[in-house]
Amino acid sequence: MRRRDFVFGALGAGLASSGALDPFVWSDPTAKAAPVRGVIPYGTAVRTDLLDTEFDYKAAIVDHCQLVVGEGGLKWFDLRPSEDQFVFDQPDRLIDFADRNGMQMRGHTLAWYGAMPDWTQTIASPAQAERELVHHITTVVGRYQGRIPSWDVVNEAIAEHPESGATIRNSIWQERLGKRYIELALRTAADVDPSAQLVINDYNIENPTQQCRDRRQALLDLLRDLKDRDVPLHAVGIQGHLPGDMEIDKEGLSKFVEAVKGMQLEVLVTELDVIDNKLPAREYDRDQIVAARAGDFLKAISDVARPSAILTWGITDRYTWVPTWFKRDDGKPNRPLPLDAGCRPKALMKVIDEFTGAAE
Ligand code: XIL
Repeated sequence: MRRRDFVFGALGAGLASSGALDPFVWSDPTAKAAPVRGVIPYGTAVRTDLLDTEFDYKAAIVDHCQLVVGEGGLKWFDLRPSEDQFVFDQPDRLIDFADRNGMQMRGHTLAWYGAMPDWTQTIASPAQAERELVHHITTVVGRYQGRIPSWDVVNEAIAEHPESGATIRNSIWQERLGKRYIELALRTAADVDPSAQLVINDYNIENPTQQCRDRRQALLDLLRDLKDRDVPLHAVGIQGHLPGDMEIDKEGLSKFVEAVKGMQLEVLVTELDVIDNKLPAREYDRDQIVAARAGDFLKAISDVARPSAILTWGITDRYTWVPTWFKRDDGKPNRPLPLDAGCRPKALMKVIDEFTGAAE
C-alpha cells in the first residue's frame, strides 16, 4: 500500500472511529502520489503569482506540502471585479500546480465580510443578496466540483466582540439576510458539490481572554444551531493566528474541540502563524517562542481530536501578511512562519512535522 493510501485511509478511518461523518478522504487514492510525509496533511496558503518567478518558494511548497490554499484568488475582491465577471486565472493556476504536484487544494472563501469589491455595496435587498450569494457559490463551487474537496464556506462569521443577541459579524450578507446567510451558503455549496467538506472558519478562540471565551461560545452556539437544523456542515476551521506574547488557553481550547467533536464535526487548523511583533528581537529566542506557542496550540487540539489538516498562512517569512497589521517596533522583519526568508526550516517547521507525523 502506498504511503498516500495509508495516510488517506488512516485519515478516513480516524474520522470514522471518531464518530465523525463518513470517512472524508482528502483525495482519490488513485491520484498521483504526493511526497506524503505524515498522517496529517500539512499545507500552506500560496501567493499564486509567485509560483512562476520564485523557484525556491515553489520548491519549498512542493517539498513540505500536501495541501495548498490560495491566499487570494478565490476571495470576491479577486474573483469578482464586477457583478457580471468571474476571473478564475489565479485559482485555475493554483489547482493546476496542485494537480501536477499531487497536492489537494482548499477553497478560501465563499462568504466573508472581507475583501469585498465595492460593487457589492450596491446589493440593496434581501432578494438580491440571496441571488448574488447563490449565483456566486453555484458558479465557483461548480467550476471546481470534485477538484477542491474542502471549502471555507463561511469565514469569520462571529462578531469581533460577541454580545448577547449580537454574535454574528456584520457584513453585506448579514445586513441583507441576517444570520440565515450562513445556512444559505452551506446549503448551496452542498447542493453544488455534495462530496465537498464544508467548513466554517474563524479566529481569536485560542487564548485565555474574555474575548476568546465569548467567541468560542458564540461559535459553538452557531455550530449547534446549524447541526440541530441538519444544515450541511462538516468541519470547523481554527485559523490559529496566534499572538506570540499570549499563552494558549489549553483547557479552553481543548474543551472547545471536545464540544466540536461531540457534534460530529472535524477540526482543521487553517491559517497557523505566530504573531511575533511583541517577542524578543533575538531571532533564536523569537523562533523558540513561536514554536512553543504553536506546539501548545496544536497539542490542545490534538489531545482531543486529530486535525484533518494543518495549514499555515504562508510557508516562508519572506511572504507573510503579519507585518500588514503587526509590524515590530524595532523594524526587524517578522518571523511567524515555518521557514525563514531563505526558505530554511525553523523550529516551527519541526513542531509542525512532529504533529503531522512527518518528523518520524
Ligand atoms: C489576508 C491575506 O493574507 C492578505 O494578503 C489580504 O490582503 C487580506 O486577507 N484571515 C483570513 C484570511 O481568513 O483570508 C486573511 O488573509 C487573514 C486573516
